[in-house]
Amino acid sequence: MTEPNSINELIRNRRSVYQNQFSGEKVDDRVVKQLLENANWAPTHKITEPWRFMVFTGNGIQQLAQAQADVYKKVTTADGTFKEERFQNLLTKPALSSHIIAVGMKRDEKKSVPEIEEIGAVFCAIENIYLTATAYGIGCYLSTGGITYFEEAKEIFGLEPADKLLGFIHVGMVKSQIPPGKRSSIDDKVIWVK
Ligand SMILES: Cc1cc2nc3c(=O)[nH]c(=O)nc-3n(C[C@H](O)[C@H](O)[C@H](O)COP(=O)(O)O)c2cc1C
Repeated sequence: MTEPNSINELIRNRRSVYQNQFSGEKVDDRVVKQLLENANWAPTHKITEPWRFMVFTGNGIQQLAQAQADVYKKVTTADGTFKEERFQNLLTKPALSSHIIAVGMKRDEKKSVPEIEEIGAVFCAIENIYLTATAYGIGCYLSTGGITYFEEAKEIFGLEPADKLLGFIHVGMVKSQIPPGKRSSIDDKVIWVK
């Protein structure tokens, strides 16, 4: 059994670690597989297991960069919101990560689980990834920027219209110690009824 203090420590030491805090070294693929294995153990209503992941690393990172820059350019040129700086960021920033995990939610209409619960299950899987990264001493953060909410991005990741792209988890080795996080007291967010 897990010691309660181990889980307390793990959860409270979990941090989002950003690309500017990555050392540039590669994370071992075997560690990334452990992140994904633990993601697979998230709670899931009717065991739909709605999480889907696409892992980009090595040359795959450049492929992702090009694909996301292309879809950004296509969509924003059409609607007149194109910004060269955002385009360049989408093209160049991925290279700062060791692995990038695109996170999707696969809809299973037959099981009639409300969509919000399926999205919730995938975010539980994301938390498992965060906690596993903490345990292995590697950095990661969830990004919901870029093309996350572009309908046109779904097909890059094998997602269909009813599915959702929920974000990108950037993974990297940590450059230096990450300062502790901050939270206001839980007492302000809980009502006990006895
Ligand atoms: C749903 C969700 C979306 C997020 N999207 C982004 C994002 O797009 N960019 C980013 O820098 N951080 C993003 N984050 C990370 C948060 O900024 C981070 O969790 C927050 O600052 C608290 O820091 P901590 O994770 O170290 O406790 C996201 C987190 C969540 C839960």
